[in-house]
Amino acid sequence: MTLPIRIAPSILAADFARLGEEVRNVTAAGADWIHLDVMDGHFVPNISFGPDVIKSLRAYTDATFDCHLMISPVDDYLEAFAKAGCDRITVHAESGPHLHRSLQTVRNLGKKVGVTLNPATPLSAIENVLDDVDLILIMSVNPGFGGQKFIPAMAGKIAAAKSMIGDRPIELEVDGGVTVETAPAIARAGGNVLVAGSAIFKGGTVENYRKTVADLRQAAEGARS
Ligand code: DX5
Ligand code: ZN
Repeated sequence: MTLPIRIAPSILAADFARLGEEVRNVTAAGADWIHLDVMDGHFVPNISFGPDVIKSLRAYTDATFDCHLMISPVDDYLEAFAKAGCDRITVHAESGPHLHRSLQTVRNLGKKVGVTLNPATPLSAIENVLDDVDLILIMSVNPGFGGQKFIPAMAGKIAAAKSMIGDRPIELEVDGGVTVETAPAIARAGGNVLVAGSAIFKGGTVENYRKTVADLRQAAEGARS
């Protein structure tokens, strides 16, 4: 099953003093989804923002809010992120002992369900929950910070995830070190949702965002055909 290429800017790399405007600008620039990186200083060694910030951003765009929770424990917070306006909620397989329960909680909240794996976690960690998710996110850097380099071995992991997905209508998202240079290999391996933080937001203006979003899309779509 071939799903469209989607570009998902991570606002982790945006200007935090102007987040609403940044979200509006990157939507105007052609972004498909807004990727929201939530970090707790415990599961990952950095702290970003929580549900109240997301709730206040909801008024600035109609684009899909794609929330990536890098927090542990996670279960107690899922409802708050659903109520904040997230459309999709992705949890780490490593964030708790009862992954299936976490995914079911997201499902019962009426949101699209995502699961993600740190670079060192094998795909076998999610083989028993494939029928419970709408999205698999392959982390191509160690989570916690933007601006890191794509780990080359993750191209093989993306390809393996794609074949594990088979005919299921599951989005295959890739996060970390995504640039115009790495996008072709990601798309060839089967990734269809490209998260990009620094590659997009370093541009600083809506014109530059538009160019990078278009370049990423073209690089990925070109590599598919
Ligand atoms: C890392 C985050 C990523 C990050 C990507 O923990 O999950 O979404 O913001 O940033 P870049 O695109 O700069 O690698
Ligand atoms: Zn992310």
